[in-house]
Amino acid sequence: MSSIPVAIVGVGNCASSLVQGLYHYANGGSNDEQGLMHWDLAGYRPKDIQVVAAWDVDARKVGRDVSEAIFAKPNCTAVFCDHVGMTGAKVSMGRVLDGVSDHMNTYHEDRRFVVSDAPQATKASVVEELKRSGAQVMTNYLPVGSQEATEFYADAAITAGVAFVNNIPVFIASNPVWAERFRAAGVPILGDDIKAQLGATIVHRTLTDLFAKRGVTLDRTYQLNTGGNTDFLNMTNKDRLASKKTSKTEAVQSVAHSRLDDDNIHVGPSDYVAWQNDNKVCFLRMEGRMFGGVPLNLELRLSVEDSPNSAGVAIDMIRCAKVALDRKLGGPILVPSSYFCKHPPVQTTDDEAFAALEDFIAGTVN
Ligand SMILES: NC(=O)c1ccc[n+]([C@@H]2O[C@H](COP(=O)([O-])OP(=O)(O)OC[C@H]3O[C@@H](n4cnc5c(N)ncnc54)[C@H](O)[C@@H]3O)[C@@H](O)[C@H]2O)c1
Repeated sequence: MSSIPVAIVGVGNCASSLVQGLYHYANGGSNDEQGLMHWDLAGYRPKDIQVVAAWDVDARKVGRDVSEAIFAKPNCTAVFCDHVGMTGAKVSMGRVLDGVSDHMNTYHEDRRFVVSDAPQATKASVVEELKRSGAQVMTNYLPVGSQEATEFYADAAITAGVAFVNNIPVFIASNPVWAERFRAAGVPILGDDIKAQLGATIVHRTLTDLFAKRGVTLDRTYQLNTGGNTDFLNMTNKDRLASKKTSKTEAVQSVAHSRLDDDNIHVGPSDYVAWQNDNKVCFLRMEGRMFGGVPLNLELRLSVEDSPNSAGVAIDMIRCAKVALDRKLGGPILVPSSYFCKHPPVQTTDDEAFAALEDFIAGTVN
């Protein structure tokens, strides 16, 4: 089985967990399978993924091997792998566009992005690097609100014929215009907005589905989230949040028995608490009525390290993108997008999406 050469856009905390995970699982036997949804996915194991190219704009990351850049500030996620080897892939200077929010400048350098003064990438330079490196899949980890920057890298991926995995809530796979561009070029796109392994979204969806299946009317709900990484700092700029809020709210609304009025559902990032670093805490409340209209309520607090929580899902998405390339599929790859993402082109329940995913992996549906 051939390897899966991958290009990373945005070498932040999520990229750190992904790269650490590739080394953590590289030589693993059965005891090391814990933490992944799939060990072997259509013949591909985690060790088959190799990072061959990367872009960032932070002066502490640009020019360094990816294996060093993932541990540079302001990254602050857990270090769970102490044997990350040199990848041979150096972080290239990206194109800033709308990737960096000005409001961050009032924070200490250790907590925020520091933009490099190296010459910025052009579309031609990104396409050239994708071709030179042999990348087959590009995975997007830009900050929330990076509409122009995401479109810049997605456009380069189309031109280079590289599959695109969109982990962030900028709508590309679920935007009909972009979906058609990928379809016309015969290039796979998976997205949008990665759904973490056991995060606030999947827990909230599962409980909402449970209310519906048990005949409990859901009247009101909130999901408040706090964290202390650059993702949360970036999201204190509310102007960058529109699509994030849509993505997270629709993920819950889409499995409710009937849609809640906007006033009765509140889902989103709520505050930046620096000392939490990459720890994310979710406070969830659901109010409803059961038999005889008698009220009930549920309160839940979920505490997770944010970035490793999505890295195993990312490993599966990258492998599904490679499977799509092997099968010569282009445009939105619907089945894995529905299972792995918060805002896919097609929303289904997680049970339906999981069954369909296993069929996709087995090759009985595309
Ligand atoms: N952790 C999860 O479970 C999860 C779930 C869903 C979505 N996401 C999304 O994934 C994305 C990445 O999250 P993260 O925690 O790694 O964020 P991060 O802030 O740690 O990393 C973002 C990186 O992008 C770089 N960057 C900024 N502008 C750039 C540009 N124009 N070109 C290239 N690089 C640029 C920054 O320097 C930084 O290294 C975020 O949008 C986040 O919301 C994460």
